[in-house]
Amino acid sequence: MAKTKTAYFCQNCGTQHSKWMGQCGTCKEWNTIVEEVIAKEEKADWKLENAPKKANLPLKVKDIQVQNEIRYNAVSNELNNVLGGGIVPGSIILLGGEPGIGKSTLMLQVALSMKYKVLYVSGEESQTQIKLRAERVQNLNEDCLILTETNTQKIFKAIQIEQPEILVIDSIQTLHTDYVESSAGSISQIKETTTELIKFAKETNTPVLVIGHINKEGSIAGPKILEHMVDVVLQFEGDRNHSYRILRALKNRFGSTQELGIFEMRSGGLREVKNPSEILISKKDGDLSGTAIAATLEGMRPLMIEVQALVSTAVYGTPQRSATGYNLKRLNMILAVLEKRAGFRLGAKDVFLNITGGIAVDDPAIDLAVVVAVLSSNEDEPIPQNYSFAAEVGLAGEIRPVNRVEQRISEAEKLGFEKIFVSKFCKVSQKESNIEVIKISTIEDLVGLLF
Ligand code: TYD
Ligand code: MG
Repeated sequence: MAKTKTAYFCQNCGTQHSKWMGQCGTCKEWNTIVEEVIAKEEKADWKLENAPKKANLPLKVKDIQVQNEIRYNAVSNELNNVLGGGIVPGSIILLGGEPGIGKSTLMLQVALSMKYKVLYVSGEESQTQIKLRAERVQNLNEDCLILTETNTQKIFKAIQIEQPEILVIDSIQTLHTDYVESSAGSISQIKETTTELIKFAKETNTPVLVIGHINKEGSIAGPKILEHMVDVVLQFEGDRNHSYRILRALKNRFGSTQELGIFEMRSGGLREVKNPSEILISKKDGDLSGTAIAATLEGMRPLMIEVQALVSTAVYGTPQRSATGYNLKRLNMILAVLEKRAGFRLGAKDVFLNITGGIAVDDPAIDLAVVVAVLSSNEDEPIPQNYSFAAEVGLAGEIRPVNRVEQRISEAEKLGFEKIFVSKFCKVSQKESNIEVIKISTIEDLVGLLF
């Protein structure tokens, strides 16, 4: 009788344990330890005697046949771009994001606008609810089928009858399979149902779009391995109090992860935003102190973003510092640089910083605009509206170059800015343009020019 050997593995961090425990001792996650078969009686052997009779043979790379890849057009250009040119047949795409951000809306809109037979399976909303939402977002695809079901075996039954070309699942956490005991949303259910969906996708060459919930750290709820199993991981993000949403690829086996899509949530669903820069900059009548425009890059896309700062005398003993959409530690660093290298007394001041539009920026090129906004508010000296900034600020108060500076300059020029401040060390080719490129090397240079 062949005896199988089992061990207990944490599904979160992969640590092996000798017995079952409620909490993994390594990563401190609860309920993640699962028993798995690790070895059959016969020993694994790489020698030929035990090799299986049939196996794939390696091919020379030049001999591998490439079929012309067809991709399903996701209609939405923003989504097509993020996916690297459409949906690849047989691929499995996972879409994550905060609750209420618009994941179901996006998927339903995609399902309704595609010219294919789509099966939209929801475990979260009733058919009537989905119908009401479909009416809001319009462009009805007559061939879009809606199913409310959470059992994968029943879903596959429906698939056999209807033979859809594309499958949408809302959401993976609501699914359960008959072959696993635990409740829907548990690690083993998520892993097993995903495995079934992947098998289905690969065997029938049907693309599957799956919505996933995220946990409080912001990654997709369930085992980390889920992200490894799927072909594409998309993240839908934005501030729920603002209408802008950014769709980015965290992983893409069929394209770059540099592209990003920008949408606006309206009463009639999500709309693509073609010129985000124009919307992100607020229109003002006069010059106000404390604002500066940064030429940033989000992925491959240039984006002009407005930075607002408010510097005021601290009422309490310890001054407050707060930043929305910008790293607070980085703000503190910039304030320290201004204090030490440029002699501005900000130690006893409250500093509030805000990136407008509810967008979080981690492009270091925004640093210079942060410096300018803070100084402008501190000195109560408005910055002309047609000035823009793109540079990183170093600890010595030096202005450092940033990547793709020409792309930033041309975006600023396109939007009618007259001056852009960049680092002296940027390589900018001299060509005829309507924008004046001002090169600076330290914060003192900046102060000398603006304040
Ligand atoms: P939803 O897609 O249900 O979010 P998720 O699936 O990520 O949890 O979107 C929910 C929000 O979107 C909801 O609060 C209302 C808003 N919304 C609109 O503003 N306009 C619309 O046309 C739709 C359908 C939703
Ligand atoms: Mg939803």
